[in-house]
Amino acid sequence: MKQITLLAIESSCDETGVSVVQKENGDIRVLSELIASQSIHESTGGVVPEVAAREHLQVIGPMITNAMQQANVNKDSVHAIAITVGPGLMPALAVGVQAARTLAFAWNKPIVPVHHIEGHIYSALLSREANEANAANEAISSMPALGLIVSGGHTMLIEIENHLTYKILGQTRDDAAGEVFDKVARMLQLSYPGGPKVSELAKRGNSEVFAFPRPMSNSHDLDFSFSGLKTSVLYKLQELGKDLSEQVRADIAASFELAVIDCLAGKLVNAMKKKKYGSVLLAGGVAANSALRSRIQKESDAHAVKLCVAPQALCGDNATMIGQAGLFAYEAGRKKNWQEVDAVARVSIESFSKTGLYSLLTDSRNRES
Ligand code: KG4
Ligand code: ZN
Repeated sequence: MKQITLLAIESSCDETGVSVVQKENGDIRVLSELIASQSIHESTGGVVPEVAAREHLQVIGPMITNAMQQANVNKDSVHAIAITVGPGLMPALAVGVQAARTLAFAWNKPIVPVHHIEGHIYSALLSREANEANAANEAISSMPALGLIVSGGHTMLIEIENHLTYKILGQTRDDAAGEVFDKVARMLQLSYPGGPKVSELAKRGNSEVFAFPRPMSNSHDLDFSFSGLKTSVLYKLQELGKDLSEQVRADIAASFELAVIDCLAGKLVNAMKKKKYGSVLLAGGVAANSALRSRIQKESDAHAVKLCVAPQALCGDNATMIGQAGLFAYEAGRKKNWQEVDAVARVSIESFSKTGLYSLLTDSRNRES
């Protein structure tokens, strides 16, 4: 009976995540899962990297102990430590990476470096229900898959050619979709992170009231652009003036949300038309948005492609997704010693998977600036 147990850590932005995951005879089990979200950033309206790092430092040690206790494992039963090495906020990433390096040194265990987006992709294959487990297995056996990753820092269409092998088909040329949700939330005086609040407000609004643009929807590539949409919402709010009624605010939110969803769904459909994929994997913080989830479900159904979507609670940053990707990477032989692993603020998932990880992480010339 082959059993692999990983301690997984995530600290790339403002969530500290520690999980213990286990794979046994092909089945993945989450033995413990802890997520600490930092509320301190609400007052600044965005994440200040050094503040995030200090918050991670406060909680990461006790969280590691608690996650191991809850999972009923000790250092002897852990095979390796999976850690998000990048991309993300450097001071925040460094806390998790240094914790992982210290444990790897003290326990004499390997580290499995995981790309943050790779983690999000694998979260779509995390099943919490029996029928979802079948869908995930089907997706795994019917590669290539088409990944739509929509978060606060990234908006990408990725072809998952095979396990741990990725090709970026398109991405945002300016703001990420989640970032724009957060900025529109600020314009509507909603606190950070604003995505969930805009989407709550949108539920009471009419998406037909304001005609916001769908930037790049007619371009022939699979790239996105959201900054023009953001500016258009800003101009509309300036035109409408102060003291907006709750209904007008809701109509703005709904019209904005539909514009974002149209952009995402439009490019996803274009990608599905170009090539036959076994499945669509939807993940990232914005994938928690129920209107987006149902629209992507509709488009996948229309193209007879199976949709695997991350459980709503695991769309945001967490360590379970890092552990899940880490399990596949560990099995593929991605094992580094503590000296070979470092945090890297900017690195594309494609170069992370294609180049040798050792040289990528230790040779600054390979880092993207
Ligand atoms: O993946 P994530 O937790 O962090 C990054 O890796 O960026 O994504 C966070 C983003 C934030 O911008 C947040 O506002 C957005 O996801 N978000 C949402 C929703 N829930 C979270 N955006 C729209 N609708 C939601 N329900
Ligand atoms: Zn993320």
